Amino acid sequence: MSLTNGPDRFGAGTRVIHWVMALGIIGMLGFGTYLARMTVNMSNFHLFAWHKSFGITLLVLAFVRIVWHRLTPPPAPLPSVPWQDRLARGVHYGFYALLLLVPLTGWIASSATGIDVQLFGLTLPHIAPTSEAWEDLFFAAHSALTKLLAALVVLHIAGAVKRRDGTLRRMVRGRD
Ligand code: HEM
Ligand code: HEM
Repeated sequence: MSLTNGPDRFGAGTRVIHWVMALGIIGMLGFGTYLARMTVNMSNFHLFAWHKSFGITLLVLAFVRIVWHRLTPPPAPLPSVPWQDRLARGVHYGFYALLLLVPLTGWIASSATGIDVQLFGLTLPHIAPTSEAWEDLFFAAHSALTKLLAALVVLHIAGAVKRRDGTLRRMVRGRD
């Protein structure tokens, strides 16, 4: 089993990052939606800290993923209908943009509240001024971008399960 990618296979490194992040992102979309709708009180306030810690972890993983793919480029997609190829590539680029923008807007909005953002107890820098206007703007952006991310996830899963050409097998087992 190889850690790196080859011209026709996903290595273990890429597959582990893909599935860990897929689980993390889908979990965080549900967790965030729950947070935004719950009635906040003393007993559930700590859930915000968990959401922030997992979110920052996913931001770090997004950078790791980008660097990893520069070191070991993933294989070209299996041949398919041209418009589907273009759509899949567009979704992948959209993912990379959102994997950075979603946690960053969350971090900016949270910094603007004046409350410390912590990564499992480690206090991170405030990356925005304490400001209600920034808070409203960036929480609105965080919320809207998560909806876009969820739409891309649905499209991506539909594309992956619909194909019967070894594309999914290649992301699970490495080879098609
Ligand atoms: C990939 C990572 C992340 C995902 C997928 C995600 C997802 C979500 C979702 C779906 C919501 C609910 C939005 C709504 O329905 O209005 C939400 C809310 C929230 N997110 Fe994130 N989030 C991520 C990262 C972060 C980070 C890094 C922070 C801060 C450091 C953060 C802070 C918050 C806060 C404070 C809320 C609650 C806002 C409110 O009470 O309305 N998120 N997130
Ligand atoms: C939030 C969840 C997900 C994200 C952000 C995501 C992101 C990506 C990205 C960016 C790629 C391109 C390769 C790379 O750069 O790593 C990819 C490939 C792939 N993903 Fe996902 N993915 C998610 C969930 C899933 C799920 C649930 C499935 C299966 C049902 C899936 C199946 C695949 C397959 C089969 C490929 C390979 C496509 C090819 O060979 O061209 N992904 N994914």
